[in-house]
Amino acid sequence: MELTLHSTPSLLLRLLLFIAISTFSDCYDPLDPNGNITITFDILQYTPDGYQARVSIRNYQQYRHVDEPGWKLGWRWADDEVILSMSGAFATQQGNCSDNFKYQQTPHSCERNPTIMDLMPDAWPENMSEECCRGGVLAAWAINPNMSFSSFEIEVANLGANYTAHPPGNLTFKDPGPGYTCGLLEDADPSVSWDVGGRRQVRVKRTWKSTCTYSSFVANKLPACCVSLSTFYSPIVTPCPNCSCGCRDADPTTLSCIREDFSLSNSDLDNNLNVVQCTDNMCPIRVHWHIKNNYMTYWRIKLTVSNYNYKRNYSNWNLLVQHPAFNQSATVYSFNSKLLPSNGFSDIDEVALFWGIDFYNSELLNVDENKLGSVTTDILLEKNLDIFTFRNGWAFPRRIYFNGENCVMSPPDNFPMLPNNSFKLKSIYHHFPLLLVIHLTLTNLLGWF
Ligand SMILES: *[C@@H]1O[C@H](CO)[C@@H](O)[C@H](O)[C@H]1NC(C)=O
Ligand SMILES: *[C@@H]1O[C@H](CO)[C@@H](O)[C@H](O)[C@H]1NC(C)=O
Ligand SMILES: *[C@@H]1O[C@H](CO)[C@@H](O)[C@H](O)[C@H]1NC(C)=O
Ligand SMILES: *[C@@H]1O[C@H](CO)[C@@H](O)[C@H](O)[C@H]1NC(C)=O
Ligand SMILES: *[C@@H]1O[C@H](CO)[C@@H](O)[C@H](O)[C@H]1NC(C)=O
Ligand SMILES: *[C@@H]1O[C@H](CO)[C@@H](O)[C@H](O)[C@H]1NC(C)=O
Ligand SMILES: *[C@@H]1O[C@H](CO)[C@@H](O)[C@H](O)[C@H]1NC(C)=O
Ligand SMILES: *[C@@H]1O[C@H](CO)[C@@H](O)[C@H](O)[C@H]1NC(C)=O
Ligand SMILES: *[C@@H]1O[C@H](CO)[C@@H](O)[C@H](O)[C@H]1NC(C)=O
Ligand SMILES: *[C@@H]1O[C@H](CO)[C@@H](O)[C@H](O)[C@H]1NC(C)=O
Repeated sequence: MELTLHSTPSLLLRLLLFIAISTFSDCYDPLDPNGNITITFDILQYTPDGYQARVSIRNYQQYRHVDEPGWKLGWRWADDEVILSMSGAFATQQGNCSDNFKYQQTPHSCERNPTIMDLMPDAWPENMSEECCRGGVLAAWAINPNMSFSSFEIEVANLGANYTAHPPGNLTFKDPGPGYTCGLLEDADPSVSWDVGGRRQVRVKRTWKSTCTYSSFVANKLPACCVSLSTFYSPIVTPCPNCSCGCRDADPTTLSCIREDFSLSNSDLDNNLNVVQCTDNMCPIRVHWHIKNNYMTYWRIKLTVSNYNYKRNYSNWNLLVQHPAFNQSATVYSFNSKLLPSNGFSDIDEVALFWGIDFYNSELLNVDENKLGSVTTDILLEKNLDIFTFRNGWAFPRRIYFNGENCVMSPPDNFPMLPNNSFKLKSIYHHFPLLLVIHLTLTNLLGWF
């Protein structure tokens, strides 16, 4: 295929895209290389045949959260441990406790591979522990660190006399689908907490730690999101690629489309069945990037996220956008936003995180009969005149994630193009065809007043 200067995106852009795509097959996320969920077992106290422990789950991922119906934590006991009692969470199965008559109470769970789930915030107060009971929801670290962790307490027994406590093995973390891979629980420096109103430091007896990392490869989910593009300077709208998230039924009379999330087990399916409106892309979520205005020293984008699900609202949605222009000052009108540390992934590309404003648009509603659920904002960006250009698709985003999942985007060949004869010109601003200049000046005025 031939490369002509004016009609196809620059080699650099292609190269960037190629790098972006190839880094994807890696198991870690280049935009959040240190992102992980850390699981900590703190042994608070030893008992005659076991110990009391606090288990904490901390979500250190910048933009990936754990949404309803919440996390599931599992492990395999190294010896014959049973969970005598538990607060702040519960084991989904009691298991076979017929061996453990010696205890006054029936143990909470005698499973060798217990699965733990969080309690709801309205749990009985006597079943609660500190920092517990958020229905398994963990916020993303960059958005709300206060709500990004959870903990529960367990009393472990049945280790016999003169025992040595061994960390459980085969730790699993689900959200509640697959995607996370956890390392071994290993000895770490004992955690320190504060006592006497923060004036006394106390150390736990022993700490085991493990980190779990997410990989979309392991999650093996169908894409759930795609990107469409438009501009003020071209009538062409670049739609989401056909079949981005699946292909629509060939039968045009079908009114609603059903797209199943195959990665989830049958028991999770009921909660997660995505019934989406029929489109050529079949994506539950579409992100639209519209280049709206060009001003002397600023440019304006309209960013819209639409929900095509009939049966699913996204609460606490977030959107990650990689674009070199975000290192300039930006005004975001209707979303919260934050620049993420660039982690040396790219010298020029910045990564901005957007999320909804509480009680205004933090909930992305489902489609009802006639209306898409959507949230939208204008973003006013300052120009760095050294690098700013509308040519070669520079003004379009490099990469977009919705709730941590990559959004499918058209190849640069399909991006809306500048009108043809502008290619010789260095800066669109100084040498643009007269008509367009008038148009720009008009939008300029309208934009400012
Ligand atoms: C997990 O995240 C924490 C906090 O960002 C970081 O200090 C730690 O090094 C990470 N662990 C791994 C194994 O990446
Ligand atoms: C429970 O465990 C006991 C002792 O190991 C065993 O005899 C019994 O068959 C088990 N019950 C079930 C239902 O597996
Ligand atoms: C909550 O506490 C009550 C009474 O203390 C107990 O009967 C119940 O099993 C507990 N529920 C959970 C989920 O731990
Ligand atoms: C987190 O908690 C701290 C102290 O409790 C508070 O100052 C801060 O505003 C909270 N942040 C958020 C995002 O809620
Ligand atoms: C536990 O250790 C004590 C003291 O070392 C010893 O007397 C006792 O026999 C041991 N018990 C078992 C079951 O090994
Ligand atoms: C973890 O599971 C593997 C097989 O799935 C098993 O070989 C290994 O012993 C388990 N580890 C522990 C600590 O149970
Ligand atoms: C996408 O699908 C629509 C209708 O199903 C069709 O008109 C269009 O040509 C397709 N586009 C591509 C690039 O195949
Ligand atoms: C989504 O939220 C709206 C408004 O709160 C509610 O009416 C609707 O039933 C919710 N949809 C689902 C699928 O939960
Ligand atoms: C943004 O990046 C460009 C290119 O690397 C650089 O020249 C400029 O100083 C940066 N601006 C800010 C505000 O960091
Ligand atoms: C630009 O010119 C090429 C061939 O010269 C043509 O195929 C293309 O449609 C033109 N694009 C626009 C946006 O006018």
